[in-house]
Amino acid sequence: MNLSKPPKHIRFLDCYLNSKVRRCLFLISIALIFRALFLLTTPLAFKHNTTFDYWLSTSSFSSSSRLVHDNSSGGGIRSDKFLEVPQIAWGLNNQKIAVARAFLTARMLNRTLLLPSLSASLFYKEVNLLQSVTFDKIFQFDKFNSLCNGFVQLGRFSDISNKTDVFDLNKGSGRKWTMERDLDQLRKVKQDPSIDGYEVIRILGKNPFLWHDHWPVRDYANVFECLVLVDEITQEAERVVSKIREIGSQVIESKTDSLSRTQQPYYVAVHMRIEKDWMIHCKKLQQRNNVTQICSSKEEIMERVGNIVGINQQPTVVYLAVADDLLEDGSVLSGWKEGLLPYEKKKLGVWDIYKKYPYLIQSAIDYEVCLRADVFVGNSYSTFSSLIVLERSQKLLRLGAVTEGSSCTTNSNESGGSGIKWPSYAYNILGESGGPKKWMTNMSDTSLQAISYGSNDVSC
Ligand SMILES: *[C@@H]1O[C@H](CO)[C@@H](O)[C@H](O)[C@H]1NC(C)=O
Ligand SMILES: *[C@@H]1O[C@H](CO)[C@@H](O)[C@H](O)[C@H]1NC(C)=O
Ligand SMILES: *[C@@H]1O[C@H](CO)[C@@H](O)[C@H](O)[C@H]1NC(C)=O
Ligand SMILES: *[C@@H]1O[C@H](CO)[C@@H](O)[C@H](O)[C@H]1NC(C)=O
Ligand SMILES: *[C@@H]1O[C@H](CO)[C@@H](O)[C@H](O)[C@H]1NC(C)=O
Ligand SMILES: *[C@@H]1O[C@H](CO)[C@@H](O)[C@H](O)[C@H]1NC(C)=O
Ligand SMILES: *[C@@H]1O[C@H](CO)[C@@H](O)[C@H](O)[C@H]1NC(C)=O
Repeated sequence: MNLSKPPKHIRFLDCYLNSKVRRCLFLISIALIFRALFLLTTPLAFKHNTTFDYWLSTSSFSSSSRLVHDNSSGGGIRSDKFLEVPQIAWGLNNQKIAVARAFLTARMLNRTLLLPSLSASLFYKEVNLLQSVTFDKIFQFDKFNSLCNGFVQLGRFSDISNKTDVFDLNKGSGRKWTMERDLDQLRKVKQDPSIDGYEVIRILGKNPFLWHDHWPVRDYANVFECLVLVDEITQEAERVVSKIREIGSQVIESKTDSLSRTQQPYYVAVHMRIEKDWMIHCKKLQQRNNVTQICSSKEEIMERVGNIVGINQQPTVVYLAVADDLLEDGSVLSGWKEGLLPYEKKKLGVWDIYKKYPYLIQSAIDYEVCLRADVFVGNSYSTFSSLIVLERSQKLLRLGAVTEGSSCTTNSNESGGSGIKWPSYAYNILGESGGPKKWMTNMSDTSLQAISYGSNDVSC
């Protein structure tokens, strides 16, 4: 939970700041290559007779269960002072983290964040190919402000009254630009009335996702919770999820006797990172960190998922979130335990849904499908997996389904007190009965680094 593990972003910094361009590009490509994350459905109430006890009602994803930060009594965030940030780039995870950092920086300075630009595509070098897309094309503007009211605030450029009243704040870079210096700069800006007086503070510098991490996990979780996809993208994710559920229903109907037909189909989403670039990258990571737990082979993943206690009680659709290049060979579809029915985008027949969209939106759909899965299994060294587990953990806490620090056991005694609702697992770490290790985010962690840049810390 602290800085003892060599975090991946240090390496990004390394390569970035030292202009070891090649190494950097390699890391970048790895980070981005897997765009194949998948997500699934909104779980329905599930029969409690099974060992699983984690099915949440459909409403669990509705805003009613989200935290509304009504801090208005405490003054909230100034709406006449703004922070402007440079275009945010890289993969979906990096962009989400960077957006959260931009908001938390704005909160620290008690300013409204001006609608940031995200990047729809994955080009890193040629900035003109980044396909800028404003935040509100991906996430709902008003919803964000109502959910995060009083905590952080989003504004529009048209809210600015004096367009020339701008202070340019240069972010340093390089090894010498330490976390302390970065924080120090922000504190000075905050305290200096001659700077704080400006209507707009415009942050300059490359790659805001490299900004240092000054905030606890809980703050990030609060911002992520307010990021609700626009309806169009949500609907696409729902189409994918209902396709998965539909297949589950059909299979249950055809394979089981009439008695069990009342069972609701549920699905497992597996963020399966086995593409070539990842394997090369993770082997290097293992060497560097002197651990053996990072890389899991296809076989290991299949075996561990098959050993999840209770998973085999009915035919179950396993949604495979895999990189696009793995869609071609089909080998990920064979070798699963009986009763587990593997599907990826192509086999599911939803490839056409994805194809319409640029990278960022494809990823966002995948993310949503994984987020909504009844069971999620990912790699604890993957930022994508980690963010999904973070959001799932946050929702469980919000619902009161788990208590913080209770180490992944549910409050409910409904299934003998042994299960956890809506579980997530890390397949790269061995858990009970030969299955993957249960995984929940420790919201008390003091920095996002522990959960997002390569960690085997699953807090269970
Ligand atoms: C399901 O659970 C209910 C209540 O706990 C019980 O009465 C019923 O027999 C169970 N059904 C099966 C198939 O186990
Ligand atoms: C405002 O919200 C933050 C984060 O939720 C909380 O820690 C703080 O106590 C709240 N302040 C007031 C005055 O309500
Ligand atoms: C922001 O400034 C307003 C007005 O000065 C104050 O009431 C509020 O508490 C401040 N909010 C934060 C988060 O510092
Ligand atoms: C706008 O801001 C600039 C720079 O602070 C200032 O010189 C100018 O007087 C302001 N204009 C108005 C109309 O307030
Ligand atoms: C790597 O870890 C193993 C066991 O955890 C230990 O015995 C070994 O000394 C470590 N090697 C290095 C280079 O730290
Ligand atoms: C769960 O069951 C145990 C033992 O049966 C009991 O002591 C405990 O109070 C129960 N917890 C809840 C939250 O009902
Ligand atoms: C969560 O993080 C806090 C702060 O780092 C730590 O004290 C606590 O032991 C962690 N809890 C678990 C269950 O790992």
